[in-house]
Amino acid sequence: MPHVRRSAPFIGDAMLKGKISASLMCSDLTDVRTGLKALEEGGVEFLHVDVMDGVFVPNIMLSESVVKQYRPLTEIPFDYHLMITEPEQKLSWFGFREGDMVSVHFESTPNICRAVRALRTLGVRTGLALNPATPVTSAEYLLPYLDFLLIMTVDPGFAGQPLVETALEKIAFARRFLDERGHENIMIEVDGNVSFENAAKMRRAGADIFVAGTSSVYAKGLTVTEGVDKLRKSIGGEGVF
Ligand code: DX5
Ligand code: ZN
Repeated sequence: MPHVRRSAPFIGDAMLKGKISASLMCSDLTDVRTGLKALEEGGVEFLHVDVMDGVFVPNIMLSESVVKQYRPLTEIPFDYHLMITEPEQKLSWFGFREGDMVSVHFESTPNICRAVRALRTLGVRTGLALNPATPVTSAEYLLPYLDFLLIMTVDPGFAGQPLVETALEKIAFARRFLDERGHENIMIEVDGNVSFENAAKMRRAGADIFVAGTSSVYAKGLTVTEGVDKLRKSIGGEGVF
């Protein structure tokens, strides 16, 4: 199947290999300005924005009105992870910018094809998020519309959880699945317990983009800059891909 071209050009998906997406919800939300400055100095490539509606996941976080207030505070592209029901009806709420990453959950709507196709028209990097129990093969007929797969390596909704046991084999399966279908350009993002130790294993399994939360960049006892440097070393640094 041909890879559908987006209408608006940007840097290209292969540029997403080995990148860090720092999790906003794990930062100090009472001092977001300082936190964003530290991420800019640390050179993280994306800001992971978890949007939870208390229905799709049992937690409420980072509503679109709050996120819009943070947007002018940084030039770091956003990586919206929409954990909300029927996201296809709410995409206009967020003010996505070209080049942002946006993922919608396979399990969140009966109209997932409509949701990813709608994202495609917005000039964002389009992602399909998969809960731990959702097979990679669910993505099969959506591949022409995707720039990345977001593989949840914990159950979505909360920071600080242990890795699900099947996470690494699922990442490796996903990489093979995509490559065998000629979709080498679809990148794999991993979210949940991306610790320094797990990140190295995930990278070896085929992960490209690493959501950094309480297990790395926001780990106790480290500054954000130290956390970013340590995570970069775990995933092989820059320029090795
Ligand atoms: C949920 C969130 C969390 C979190 C990850 O989608 O994205 O998974 O930021 O951070 P950890 O697991 O390191 O606390
Ligand atoms: Zn997330």
